[in-house]
Amino acid sequence: MDNKFCSVKPLRDNTLPQVFIETYGCQMNVNDSEVVLSVLQRAGYSICDHLKDADIILINTCSIRDNAEQRVWGRLDVFLQEKKSRKGVIVGVLGCMAERLKEELLRHPAVDIVAGPDAYRDIPKLIAALKSDAGKQINTLLSHEETYADISPVRMDKNGVSAFISIMRGCNNMCSYCVVPYVRGAERSRDPESIIREAQELFDNGYKEVSLLGQNVDSYNWTDPDNPTRSVNFAQLLERVALIDPRLRVRFSTSHPKDMGNGVLYTMAMYPNICNHIHLPVQSGSNAMLLKMNRKYTRESYLERVAKIREILPDCTISTDIIAGFCGETEQDHRDTLSLMEEVRFDSAFMFQYSERPNTKAARHFPDDVPPEVKTRRLNEIIELQNRLSLESNQKTLGKTFDVLIEGISKRSDRQLIGRTPQNKVCVFDAEGHTIGGYAKVRIHSCTSATLMAKIAEEEPKHAGTLKIKEKIKDILGERHPGKKE
Ligand code: 5AD
Ligand code: SF4
Repeated sequence: MDNKFCSVKPLRDNTLPQVFIETYGCQMNVNDSEVVLSVLQRAGYSICDHLKDADIILINTCSIRDNAEQRVWGRLDVFLQEKKSRKGVIVGVLGCMAERLKEELLRHPAVDIVAGPDAYRDIPKLIAALKSDAGKQINTLLSHEETYADISPVRMDKNGVSAFISIMRGCNNMCSYCVVPYVRGAERSRDPESIIREAQELFDNGYKEVSLLGQNVDSYNWTDPDNPTRSVNFAQLLERVALIDPRLRVRFSTSHPKDMGNGVLYTMAMYPNICNHIHLPVQSGSNAMLLKMNRKYTRESYLERVAKIREILPDCTISTDIIAGFCGETEQDHRDTLSLMEEVRFDSAFMFQYSERPNTKAARHFPDDVPPEVKTRRLNEIIELQNRLSLESNQKTLGKTFDVLIEGISKRSDRQLIGRTPQNKVCVFDAEGHTIGGYAKVRIHSCTSATLMAKIAEEEPKHAGTLKIKEKIKDILGERHPGKKE
């Protein structure tokens, strides 16, 4: 095992063969692409930023909805043109579509290599075999162990501030609509020591924020193979990452409503550097739909989890995922989703139309019977409602101050910076001497449903915190001893 856990910088060397990677889908795919680049960099390849410069073109794909796959087929046609104009270019398809479609992809005239999510260590070998005239190459074997724990991903982010760390792979939940368990295999948790070392190395290399990634982080559970009585759960892992340094922000995604216990919430409450934001996909507000989706929670138990978040973490934001038009969804089911959204008042949401995925339980057992125009109308109603809820959530921040981690320069003006509050709200403000990678205290003066506009806040007097605590103590004492109240 290679123990060099450093946040590897991309290697740029014109004398080496050049690899270009394009990534579709979720944050885990972004991190997987960084793992692939690390594997190739070690095997003697250099990384380039333009398709036109590449000897090897890789496309890391997503199968979650049909439109994600259609986009990839479109790109393969573009790569075919590239291969026609430049002899010797190699094209490889990676990720979920590689796993799902296997030989069908290999039959595309552009494609030379197909490698599934657990086959990335094998890519240099696949390239070598292809070059030695062994024909098109494929490896889509899924593993019960692979976590790429020993591979330091090549960090491809532009800012050097925020990085992803995958803490587990696969998913065991078998939501009936979802292709993920089929294409990413069984759930497995990564050795916590390798996660801590990676986070520490990132911090030592100037990173200020890590996002711990998994399909269902709440079921993270690592058992020491040498001592099966020793195990680490997600709350414990989170605490250990938070303890690396109070200046390192810690985020995580995705939480599952059936598994998110109070332990995680208390850990968040204890460490101010764990950001107060939870992504808690609900999918639907109707119990009939939740049952059919095999989500293993009810509307009521979801609302109970939300109430617990609000009780333990009063300023925590909650985002969600919602699917419109799942099999057999009635108008009443749809209204249940809208009313749940109103009740929770989600701060933000990712919203989708149901897209049937071949061979999932839903595809095999339930007709995809909500007409497309009804799906579209329901999705639009969901989006419209969420826009209002997001705006209201942002309006609540007006006049308040937040510590933002500065991640980049605003697209609108190079004199403005962009950062995020702990609650994951994007904030734009005049730079006034601040720089990327630093923290700034800002006061919000206006907002849209998507962005907060702010100004650098006057520094609060250093003793402000102490004064507030003293006032609070006085309040409490006053309440307990009314006679003494001043
Ligand atoms: N159709 C539409 N949306 C889906 N998702 C997963 N599978 C499907 C599907 N077949 C959504 C869920 C999940 C998010 C990552 O993608 O909302 O939480
Ligand atoms: Fe898919 Fe459900 Fe697993 Fe999420 S938890 S990846 S929706 S099966």
